[in-house]
Amino acid sequence: MPNQDESFIRGGSTPAPVATIPKAMSHHPVTLSPVGTPLLGRTVGELVAERPGRSRVFQAFNIDFCCQGARTLREACESKGLAHDAVVEQLEAELADKSAPAQNPAGLPPHELAAYIVATHHSFLRSELPRLHAMSERVAKVHGGHTPSLVEMFHVFTGMEAELTSHMIKEEQILFPAISAMSRGEPAPGSLDGPIGCMIHEHEEVGSALARLHELSHGFQPPADACNTYRALFAGLDDLEADLHRHIHLENAVLFPAAQAMVGAM
Ligand SMILES: [Fe+2]
Ligand SMILES: [Fe+2]
Repeated sequence: MPNQDESFIRGGSTPAPVATIPKAMSHHPVTLSPVGTPLLGRTVGELVAERPGRSRVFQAFNIDFCCQGARTLREACESKGLAHDAVVEQLEAELADKSAPAQNPAGLPPHELAAYIVATHHSFLRSELPRLHAMSERVAKVHGGHTPSLVEMFHVFTGMEAELTSHMIKEEQILFPAISAMSRGEPAPGSLDGPIGCMIHEHEEVGSALARLHELSHGFQPPADACNTYRALFAGLDDLEADLHRHIHLENAVLFPAAQAMVGAM
């Protein structure tokens, strides 16, 4: 691949869960399980790729559909100690919800999906990260003395912010242009397994940081006497978590498998 820097490739040594990704996928790679597979036997990643509104149900049950999207719904429920029926019931209710958005970005061809991710999710991060950084720093300084978890949250946040900033540049300057070129019929730049493995590994690190923030903040619930900045920070982190889950899901479960399928077909 042209202009590929070494730091980008370095993460390629990290095993990526590509074994779960079929090589032969269409440009609308949504359904991985055979038709007729019951909900519990399908992966949470494919369920959200098929209907983005399901992400709300999984978020409500704190089921990770992005970094751990390759698990079946049954496995995800069992790992959380959740009753299958309660989750399936909510998924069925979502299916009947007529207010669900009609447009599903997972149905876009790969070059349009890459552009959508940059315009929607990368742009969101670029406006939210500095704002949340400032609030997290202020809350840690003012309230960290009696609530040390707020200081740890600031450190976890700044580590995640640095990782995301360099991660988006790698995607926008190297991986996404390669995907767009292949979409236009230009030759594959060689295997994308290294760069994609690196991105998936970084997604997992972001997922771990989000999980730690969630834990330290008790699910982003501020105490009753919290000041306005404290409340705004927790609400902002809650939104950031939801947006990052959708963002990482679109890359791991939809865009990257589509890119690997294009390489395989060339
Ligand atoms: Fe991204
Ligand atoms: Fe990414």
